[in-house]
Amino acid sequence: MVMAHAKPTAHETLPPPLRLLVLLALLAASYLALTRIPAAAPLSALLIGRQPLPPPLSAPPAPLLSSKSSSCAGFYAGAGPARAVAASVEEFGAVGDGVTSNTAAFRRAVADLEERARGVGGGGGGARLEVPPGRWLTGSFNLTSRFTLFLHRGAVILGSQDPEEWPLIAPLPSYGRGRERLGPRHISLIHGEGLNDVVVTGNNGTIDGQGGMWWELWWNRTLNHTRGHLVELVNSSNILISNITLRNSPFWTVHPVYCSNVVMKDLTILAPLNAPNTDGIDPDSSSEVCIEDCYIESGDDLVAIKSGWDQYGISVGKPSTNIVIQRVSGTTPTCSGVGFGSEMSGGISNVLVRDLHVWSSAQAVRLKTDIGRGGYITNITIVNVTMEKVKVPIRFSRGADDHSDDNYDRTALPRISNVLISDIVGVDLQRAPMLEAVAGAVYEGICFRNVSLRGIRRQDRWHCESVYGEAHGVFPAPCEEFRSNGSSSWCGFS
Ligand SMILES: *[C@@H]1O[C@H](CO)[C@@H](O)[C@H](O)[C@H]1NC(C)=O
Ligand SMILES: *[C@@H]1O[C@H](CO)[C@@H](O)[C@H](O)[C@H]1NC(C)=O
Ligand SMILES: *[C@@H]1O[C@H](CO)[C@@H](O)[C@H](O)[C@H]1NC(C)=O
Ligand SMILES: *[C@@H]1O[C@H](CO)[C@@H](O)[C@H](O)[C@H]1NC(C)=O
Ligand SMILES: *[C@@H]1O[C@H](CO)[C@@H](O)[C@H](O)[C@H]1NC(C)=O
Ligand SMILES: *[C@@H]1O[C@H](CO)[C@@H](O)[C@H](O)[C@H]1NC(C)=O
Ligand SMILES: *[C@@H]1O[C@H](CO)[C@@H](O)[C@H](O)[C@H]1NC(C)=O
Ligand SMILES: *[C@@H]1O[C@H](CO)[C@@H](O)[C@H](O)[C@H]1NC(C)=O
Ligand SMILES: *[C@@H]1O[C@H](CO)[C@@H](O)[C@H](O)[C@H]1NC(C)=O
Ligand SMILES: *[C@@H]1O[C@H](CO)[C@@H](O)[C@H](O)[C@H]1NC(C)=O
Repeated sequence: MVMAHAKPTAHETLPPPLRLLVLLALLAASYLALTRIPAAAPLSALLIGRQPLPPPLSAPPAPLLSSKSSSCAGFYAGAGPARAVAASVEEFGAVGDGVTSNTAAFRRAVADLEERARGVGGGGGGARLEVPPGRWLTGSFNLTSRFTLFLHRGAVILGSQDPEEWPLIAPLPSYGRGRERLGPRHISLIHGEGLNDVVVTGNNGTIDGQGGMWWELWWNRTLNHTRGHLVELVNSSNILISNITLRNSPFWTVHPVYCSNVVMKDLTILAPLNAPNTDGIDPDSSSEVCIEDCYIESGDDLVAIKSGWDQYGISVGKPSTNIVIQRVSGTTPTCSGVGFGSEMSGGISNVLVRDLHVWSSAQAVRLKTDIGRGGYITNITIVNVTMEKVKVPIRFSRGADDHSDDNYDRTALPRISNVLISDIVGVDLQRAPMLEAVAGAVYEGICFRNVSLRGIRRQDRWHCESVYGEAHGVFPAPCEEFRSNGSSSWCGFS
């Protein structure tokens, strides 16, 4: 039932990346089996659509090459956007004129709907808050469990321009401080902590953080506390964010941290290409995360997988694991399509990135760590990446000696292994891949297969330092370190 073409008992005969898929499907399936919430999507809507991996060197069975589109949306197992009670934010006195502050109305609406839902059949059906067409200015407000925020077409939630409307909250334990400034940090515009079954969706309504004021504070060096995210969910599970446009976040746009079962799909995420740190989506110390069918353009990574910073991340020890990122496209002139780290101290594993399309960007894929990070990045499969006008197609970089404080452990080296990078096509590039391990570390089991990188400057060669693995069908010729002196079972070559 899990996979028509690969019974769980067939694990051992599958190449490791296939095992990852089976594992992900099994995890999702067992999650659904354990939860009391009826599954919104049939199991067939989990990861079991088309076979995503490049053909192994010997021809695979025909069904594995089926090209049906697939979805990981089954990671969300909540009740969906429909709820037992619903109301419009207007009923709570909100005014959609773009000028009136509606912070109190949004907060009242969430509290009141939570109460009303409790009165209906024990509250299990939850509540839905509708935002009709209009421009709804607001400061930060919190969501609640079994809750849907629904933005109709033409609805725009606008972030307040008063910093006090983004109150300070405690730093995350895995960062030990605000990411940018010591001490507490501004809360996100839309926030939730300790929740279960939260949906933010609509007919492509918009959440606009109006982050310009915050970027200026950053540029002017007058920022007192770390900027807020546009949407942040902390320690929550069963999250679905879909069919909306997110614009102009002050800082990272969507930030699930210490969460599980998070689906982010059909999103448009926009920020000016020079807006500082406006990452699109940052799964952080989170598991069972699905990101699919998103268009993102911003001033930082389109997607960045993280898991805490130096000694704080090491001591919290919460990895980001079982993550699928598919059909993401976009541009970021100074950063990467998909980034890993640089904060990765809790570990990152079991990540599948496929059908990524990146243009006019600094990198398509970047693994970024630093001295003192500890942690690991392992069991990563990156397949079918298309890129145009990218400066460095694939980069492993050492980071910028960027630490939470001076008490990090200089001997804590990041470990990177089992990374398969396959079916990569790039044109109009500038540089060959640049792969550098952090001083003192050795990265092994890195494999490249079917890679065609065109337009690289004459004279430029692959640059590798303490990074080893295998390469098959790669142009231009990789560095000596990839001319196979060992073999990683992850790559399925042996
Ligand atoms: C990586 O995958 C292997 C199986 O190929 C598994 O044994 C190992 O536990 C995985 N590592 C992590 C950190 O998930
Ligand atoms: C929102 O949640 C945060 C974190 O749980 C909390 O610190 C804050 O006081 C809450 N804000 C409101 C308005 O309830
Ligand atoms: C996370 O949220 C759950 C409720 O869903 C709560 O019981 C638990 O204490 C929270 N954990 C932390 C570390 O805040
Ligand atoms: C949603 O709105 C954005 C911004 O206007 C637009 O670029 C995108 O194409 C729209 N998405 C859909 C599915 O209509
Ligand atoms: C930042 O500096 C510019 C130029 O000095 C100034 O016009 C602007 O008001 C400042 N912005 C903030 C938010 O302080
Ligand atoms: C930053 O702190 C200074 C001094 O306390 C204060 O004047 C200024 O308004 C603060 N800025 C923000 C954005 O909170
Ligand atoms: C979101 O968009 C998808 C694809 O356009 C559509 O199938 C789905 O019904 C939409 N969901 C909502 C809640 O509008
Ligand atoms: C590769 O990804 C692109 C999207 O970037 C998609 O259009 C194409 O169908 C994918 N190719 C395969 C073989 O799946
Ligand atoms: C190599 O990768 C490209 C891009 O995904 C794909 O179109 C092509 O079929 C692949 N070739 C082989 C031999 O797998
Ligand atoms: C490959 O060779 C390098 C240097 O020759 C060595 O450091 C590394 O450990 C070798 N890797 C394997 C997997 O044998």
